[in-house]
Amino acid sequence: MKYILALDQGTTSSRAILFDRDGQIRGSISKELTQIYPRSGWVEHDPVEIWESQREVARQALSQAGIAASDIAAIGITNQRETTLLWDRATGEPLHNAIVWQDRRTAEFCDRLRGDGHAATIAEKTGLVLDAYFSGTKLRWLLDHVPSARQRADRGELAFGTVDSWLLWNLSGGQLHVTDASNASRTMLFNLKTLAWDEELLGLLDIPASVLPEVQPSSFVYGQSTPDFLGKAVPLAGCAGDQHAALFGQNCTQPAMAKNTYGTGCFVLMNIGEEPVASKCKLLTTIACSGRARPEFALEGSIFTAGSAVQWLRDGLGIIASSSDVQELAESVPDCGDCYLVPAFAGLGAPHWDPYARGIIVGISGGTTAAHIARATLESIAFQVADVLDAMSTDVGSPVQELRVDGGASANDLLMQFQADILQVPVVRPQVIETTAMGAAFLAGLAVGFWQDMNEVEQIWQSERVFEPVMAASDVEQRRDRWQQAVKRSQGWHS
Ligand code: G3P
Repeated sequence: MKYILALDQGTTSSRAILFDRDGQIRGSISKELTQIYPRSGWVEHDPVEIWESQREVARQALSQAGIAASDIAAIGITNQRETTLLWDRATGEPLHNAIVWQDRRTAEFCDRLRGDGHAATIAEKTGLVLDAYFSGTKLRWLLDHVPSARQRADRGELAFGTVDSWLLWNLSGGQLHVTDASNASRTMLFNLKTLAWDEELLGLLDIPASVLPEVQPSSFVYGQSTPDFLGKAVPLAGCAGDQHAALFGQNCTQPAMAKNTYGTGCFVLMNIGEEPVASKCKLLTTIACSGRARPEFALEGSIFTAGSAVQWLRDGLGIIASSSDVQELAESVPDCGDCYLVPAFAGLGAPHWDPYARGIIVGISGGTTAAHIARATLESIAFQVADVLDAMSTDVGSPVQELRVDGGASANDLLMQFQADILQVPVVRPQVIETTAMGAAFLAGLAVGFWQDMNEVEQIWQSERVFEPVMAASDVEQRRDRWQQAVKRSQGWHS
């Protein structure tokens, strides 16, 4: 068998990518996913659309590449994390739309938990900052607000899952109710030390254990897809949250190696080895998936708005026709003209964690043009990443040596050069920037022996370009100082 099929279910699209043994892409299809905004700060997805779009792109990817299911050695799954679903075990029917990771509806409940002094316990057990971002409070909201959900859950009739579990359930025709440790580590219910669901936290959030999926390693044969999915049963053999899969796909398998994925948001992860060290700088400690039996951990800085700020330039302001036009518009001016944009559209994540922050543009003068705003938007992405890497360096006690980059906006040379300048470290772009899907393919391929071991997988990753910093240190300092002033102005915008 010659290929691994990676299913990459992201916030804005469902994608299917076929990898051959050399890690080359042999077919790729993507379909946009509808974003549902029922109220300010609420974001939902239709679970049926998630599944059907994922099924459709998988089938199309095979037919486009002229590949039969018998050529597929295994399927690897990677997914938008934290997004929360609840469905009926008997019928497979969702009880509600999926509550997306960006959704802030449980921010006040989190404030109450914080006020009652639970933040430290949650951080110690789960490695997470108490925030509406994670699945736990979203699941509680579903149990409390969907009529009769709590009674049905207590009777064992309901299944909770993040998007990986939902896909595995549907791919297996309802045979599997399972998740992997990396996705479990984003629920605020999973204990990083015992590597199991935590009873105290389940009690605190009033979640019945009966709804929870079984937790398995990321590189593992979970089961088989139903024959009708691709025409023949295929092993379901890899599963990881998208950012964990990208860390693995970037070969950041040794402590202190870090990657950033430029997607809807930006997610910076650094491998920290076999101990779940707690952050002193409001970063998250999370599971790093690996092909090995023992668990590994990572520090993470989650930035909620990055590529979606460029989409806002397109859809909200209408100053570009397509997202890829941003580089040309931004390059038409030599700098941001002292204009700073903080894209806190969904609050601020790491290292600020302010759910009440909102977007702001400061420094507008009569000479400010759309080009300056486009440039300030791109630069805001790099500034946010730099804030997170500063926090990581403080946590691990040494500066980051290089940053590996992937995701859509890593193709933007202007942004990558500015990123290297602002960080003052080299930024390394690999030949395959689909490292999220590649990581899921590696996990699946290792589980079924398509690739024999980590050595074989590590040979596949190749650098395409290294961006070296060229900006004077004094300029960097002055710009970062202006950025910090802008961030302060964006915070605490309570309604
Ligand atoms: O934690 C949310 C993250 O997993 C979403 O990633 O690529 O869908 O924006 P993405």
